Amino acid sequence: MSVPTHGNYHGYYLKRLSVTDPRLALLPENTFTGKRVLDIGCNEGWVTCEIAQAWGAYKVVGVDIDDTLIRAAWKRRQLVWSLQEPLSSHTNALENSKEVDDSSPTRSNSTGMTQLQLDYFPASLQHSFGPLPIPPSSIRGKHAFPHNVSFRTADWTKEEIVENVDGYDVVVAFSITKWIHLNGGDDGLRAFFCRVHSVLKLGGLFILEPQEWDTYKKAKRLNETLRSTAQTLKLRPNDFESILKGIGFSPAQHAGITGEGGFRRTVDLYVKEAS
Ligand SMILES: C[S@@+](CC[C@H](N)C(=O)[O-])C[C@H]1O[C@@H](n2cnc3c(N)ncnc32)[C@H](O)[C@@H]1O
Repeated sequence: MSVPTHGNYHGYYLKRLSVTDPRLALLPENTFTGKRVLDIGCNEGWVTCEIAQAWGAYKVVGVDIDDTLIRAAWKRRQLVWSLQEPLSSHTNALENSKEVDDSSPTRSNSTGMTQLQLDYFPASLQHSFGPLPIPPSSIRGKHAFPHNVSFRTADWTKEEIVENVDGYDVVVAFSITKWIHLNGGDDGLRAFFCRVHSVLKLGGLFILEPQEWDTYKKAKRLNETLRSTAQTLKLRPNDFESILKGIGFSPAQHAGITGEGGFRRTVDLYVKEAS
């Protein structure tokens, strides 16, 4: 496997203990409801699919520079669909679960179903028989999961994707700033933030989880190019808020912190205020 100089790790999500993403769990309940969403650096699409399935998004596009990861993301979409419980049996399960335990998870997804559905189709069936086929969007609806999620391979800092044209209500950038910074330098990172601002609608939300400066140390050892770019860097993650305010974003709202050590993650929200 080639060196992951863009943070394009394969099997990135396999070490996770939780099915749901702890960074998303920090966000207000209606963050994605009915929204057009871009997930930059979506890797194998776990977060992207969660936003599309469990948060009621209108349309979500995940973009990643690594085509192998994007192919894995399309497979993830089909797996999540396979695990989704059909509406009729879900309704019964939900009624039963309410009798037993009122505290069970009830956040609705785009179909009005809940996260209980994640356990419906045992993983062993997927291994033996493959994923369930996805019914056409004419039956399920274009904005119901899984038709509300798609993926594209692109270096989003340099290439246009068609979805940019209509703009987004929400842009998610989880664990990607370090890679853009180390590959493109201070100017590349500034240009990235400007681009996020330009594709967001007025009032749109930028959800940023920047990696901490001390995690750059290990990353820059991956190759000589990253190491020499790292030597030129003057910006630090603590500067990102003032750069974003200079571009036309609101001050950061701190959604919270999750994880520990190298996986300590701060999630900040910025609203697009002006051009
Ligand atoms: C460390 S992973 C984070 C994955 C995911 N955002 C998360 O936090 O769960 C960073 C991802 O960003 C992607 N990436 C890095 N630079 C990119 C770029 N310029 N355009 C698109 N994707 C990029 C990598 O391929 C990788 O999958």
